[in-house]
Amino acid sequence: MFDFDEVIDRTKSSCEKWDKYKGQNIIPAWVADMDFKSPPCVIEALEQRVREGVFGYTGVDEETYDAIISFIKRHYDWEIQKEWVVFTHGVVSSMNLACLSVDTQSVMTTTPIYPHFIKAPHYAQKEVLAIAMKEENNRWVLDYEAMEATITPTCKLFMLCNPYNPAGTVFTCKELEALSAFCLKHDLTLCSDEIHADLLLNPDAKHIPIASLNEAIAQKSITLMAPSKTFNIAGLQASFAIIPSFELRKRFQKTMGSMVGGVNLLGLCALKAAYTDGDAWLKALRLYLADNLKMVQDFVAKNPKLKLLNQEATFLAWIDVSALHVKSPYAFFLSFGVGLSDGEPFGNKQFVRLNFGTRRALLVQILDKMQDAMDSLKKEENNERCH
Ligand SMILES: Cc1ncc(COP(=O)(O)O)c(C=O)c1O
Repeated sequence: MFDFDEVIDRTKSSCEKWDKYKGQNIIPAWVADMDFKSPPCVIEALEQRVREGVFGYTGVDEETYDAIISFIKRHYDWEIQKEWVVFTHGVVSSMNLACLSVDTQSVMTTTPIYPHFIKAPHYAQKEVLAIAMKEENNRWVLDYEAMEATITPTCKLFMLCNPYNPAGTVFTCKELEALSAFCLKHDLTLCSDEIHADLLLNPDAKHIPIASLNEAIAQKSITLMAPSKTFNIAGLQASFAIIPSFELRKRFQKTMGSMVGGVNLLGLCALKAAYTDGDAWLKALRLYLADNLKMVQDFVAKNPKLKLLNQEATFLAWIDVSALHVKSPYAFFLSFGVGLSDGEPFGNKQFVRLNFGTRRALLVQILDKMQDAMDSLKKEENNERCH
């Protein structure tokens, strides 16, 4: 019904992902956007809105709020109120706003992580208490012992990424309850980036907005959500923060002032259409991505020097390449024609991040090129042995 195999030339639309390697024989598999068209309902809504031809100042209509409230209830069984929703033009902006809004000297977060979790506190001139994620039962999980050992009384903000970019973890109810208890114990505000919430690939995993766990943590939380990753509309810059506490919300909005605007009219139009009519497309997308992930997992399984822990969500595979012993794994794979994300800005340069949110035929090419890279190392090893 939805054609995720459609060939789309993205080299003529100022596309960040494809322009990075324009004119080179390199397939981009880095920045977190997918190579798919958005759902037909989004494209039709935008076409209709553009045909109206008037693009003046725009408010947010009731239907848009209803679409958000109903989507979150439908997918996460979380009942939110219209007043809690604060529109922003991007989750990264909201992360920066959170760091500026909370009265704190430092910000606790985890590492490796999407780089803006480290940049946002720095821009707000706050110290970062970065806690390394640990490997447990083949998953990347939070290290509560290290968190307890590192927390200080002047740290009042924790920034969580759930589902986790780059490691693909979906935190369980038990894990989130433990984090909620940690935040309440230390009087921390919790900024939870849940931009990847809709992209669960493991049918046994369930996304739980941490703010939905209990009233106490709801009152301390800023939850960041967006249709941008889910429906591939990042260029339309539509996102929102959900802030149940009146006080916290006012501080967040005061920080926005008139410097940070809300969502533009096309972004709002796309958001409403996606959240109202996009469920069937999203279901099909998740199945397609799960099959892509299986291909990546099979590729890793064939190459014992690569390691990928249990990935439950996102179209981004965080691959441990430390056993290759190459100076720059990113540059190494690039020399074989694949533009992965370098692990270094995430906090570990012995990893690469592979974006598999692309049509299958292209993913096959990406994995073939990566296999060539792996085979070249084997050849080198054999040569060394013979000499
Ligand atoms: C965890 C996470 N947060 C935020 C963003 C970016 O959000 P936005 O484009 O809305 O600023 C990304 C994009 O990759 C992401 O992975």
